[in-house]
Parts: sequence; C-alpha cells; structure tokens
Amino acid sequence: MNAFSTLTHSAPTSAEDRAALLAEPGFGKVFTDHMVTIRYTEGQGWHDATLGPRGPIALDPAAAVLHYAQEIFEGLKAYRLPDGGIGSFRPDANARRFNQSARRLAMPEIPEELFVESIRQIVQADAGWTPSADKGSLYLRPFMFADEAFLGVRPAKSYIFCVIASPVGGYFKGGKEAVTLWVSHDYVRAVPGGTGSAKCGGNYAASLLPQAHGIAEGCDQVLFLDAVERRYIEELGGMNIMFVMTDGSIITPPLDGSILPGITRDSLIALAGEAGYRIREERYSFEQWEEDTRSGALKEAFACGTAAVITPIGEVRSNKGGFVIGNGAGGDVARMLKEKLVGIQYGRVEDSHGWLERLA
Ligand code: PLP
Ligand code: COI
Repeated sequence: MNAFSTLTHSAPTSAEDRAALLAEPGFGKVFTDHMVTIRYTEGQGWHDATLGPRGPIALDPAAAVLHYAQEIFEGLKAYRLPDGGIGSFRPDANARRFNQSARRLAMPEIPEELFVESIRQIVQADAGWTPSADKGSLYLRPFMFADEAFLGVRPAKSYIFCVIASPVGGYFKGGKEAVTLWVSHDYVRAVPGGTGSAKCGGNYAASLLPQAHGIAEGCDQVLFLDAVERRYIEELGGMNIMFVMTDGSIITPPLDGSILPGITRDSLIALAGEAGYRIREERYSFEQWEEDTRSGALKEAFACGTAAVITPIGEVRSNKGGFVIGNGAGGDVARMLKEKLVGIQYGRVEDSHGWLERLA
C-alpha cells in the first residue's frame, strides 16, 4: 500500500476554542480535527490511506454494517510525556487484539504496522489536542466496518477502517473514587463460542439494557455472570475485574473465550506479580465474592480497562441484595497498582517492559 495521503483541514479549531474544550473534556464528547480512513476491497487489499479532516461518512443504506453489524473497534490512549512529547501504551497489543476481533467477525486483518502508523498519523496531526498529564489523555478509537451494499448474509467484500480521537478525563461522572456495580442475574453478555472475546459493537449493544437497569438502581456499571451456570463472574460492560484477597493473592476471571482479553488486565497481572502478589486466573463465583467480603477474606475489588484505568469497586447491588467492600472507598493495592501503571503510561516511571511507544 502507498503512504498516507494528507488532506489539509481548511478550518481547524482555534487554539482558544481548543483550550476551552480541553478544560473539562469528560469522556467521549469532544473530538479532534482529524481522522484516518483506510479502505479495504477484496482482491485489492488495503488502499487509499488518508489523514484528513474529521467528518461524516456517506454510506449506502444497504451497507452490511447497518444490517448484520459487521463492526469491530479498539480503545487506547495517548499520553503527554514529561518532555512534552506524546506516547501511547502497548498499541501493538491493540493491533493484535483488533485482528483477533477481525477474524471472529469474518473481516480482513490489517497489518499491525499500518494500525500503529494510523495512530501515529492522527496523534501527530492532533498533537495539540492531547491534554496535559494532570488533565487527562487523548482517547483513540480505531474501528472497522463493512460498507458493501449487499443484503445477502455473508462476509462483506469491502470495509472502511478509521481512527478518531477524543481528549478525555475520567470515565466515570464526577471523577468518582469508587463505583457501585449492578449484578445482572437476568441477562448475560457473552456465551461460550460467541463473540465475548472480540471487541465488536454488538457486545456493547447487548449490554445496554442491563446497564440501563443498573443505572436506574443507582449503579455505575453492570457486572455479568457466566451464561451457563449464571454463577461465575466474567467482567463489566466495559472493563475487566480483579479481586484482592487478604492472603496476598489477586483473583481475576480466566480468558475462557467469553471475556475481553484486556490489555490493562494483562499489564496489571505483570505489575502485581512483580510487586509480590500471587495472581490467580481462576473462576470466582458471585456467592463466593459475597462470602469472602463478609468474612474478610477479600479486602478490595477493582475494575480495570483503558477508559476506567483502575477504579475501585465500593459497593455491589443486585435484585438479590447487596454488600459494601471495605469502607466503600477503595484500598491500598488498587492505589499502588494504579500509580505504577499510570506512571509508566505518562513516562514518569521506568518502563522496564518496553510498553510505552513514543508517537510524537
Ligand atoms: N472488557 C470490556 C468489555 C471492555 O470494553 C474493555 C475496554 O476496552 C476491557 C474489558 C478492558 O480492556 P483494555 O484494558 O484493553 O482497555
Ligand atoms: C475502553 O476502555 O477502551 C473501552 O472500550 C470501554 C468503553 C466503556 C469506553
């Protein structure tokens, strides 16, 4: 494929307007000036890589994505480094997971270098949109969808890959210290053999109704249990989960095909192991969680993911009752791990794993 072509933006946001938007970005509401677009056509492969002004995408009403949901995405962040440069965290791992998702959805894979280069292109073009380290980060959203106009049910023959960017602060409203979970006993997110380990939009569509029930109950996120026995904890609507035990171990559900293999999860397994914790990638039931919380065998639980970073879980509710974890405000292990992880991401702590990729 040829190099990226660049379309000049005729009216980029003024520095003054951008500063106002960056003051309180929230999550996913403010967007930068540019986007990357790359097309795929069967027989031709990837072509027409473009960095251009962000704008609407024209689609035929029969485009396959609108009917059969052939769509996948990724989420990663770019961070302002102490020397003013910009880095991102393990973008190669996002590229690999993107291609795993592509395989599951019968979509074409994108070369990892092209995926990472597309991130570099948008981050460099929109460098001024990356918040200062104390304010947040630049959330990057690569995605791909089927644009072939065809109503037969089969993998499409043409696709569009895009990257958009959004300056963000914390994911949870009001920068909460700890969140409350709603455990869904009525709905599941994923089934064995399904698409749970792929990052496809359909999984998120399926989580919206139980998430809305959780919000109506005053909760922040929904927690899903396994689809077969409805006992074992899987993950939240948009993040993985970890449990800190009093005996110095940390439990997290195994990658059994129905949860998303989080890059934050993987990184924390490494960092917690180095800090002396025994990592147990094991099935853990909801009843056991409640019992361990009441007996004192469990001292902390937290959510982890790109958007959530590490967010302590303070309280758990469901239509069968609820319980509070510790003092409801999070604990030392989550704080220590967050400091290590975020320190590496912002280039403040030595990166012995080579996770930080300099982009600008
Ligand atoms: N699980 C789900 C369902 C997610 O949407 C995410 C976020 O991407 C994660 C877990 C955490 O993955 P990562 O740490 O790679 O962001
Ligand atoms: C991410 O953390 O990148 C996600 O995709 C989760 C979503 C809830 C924003």
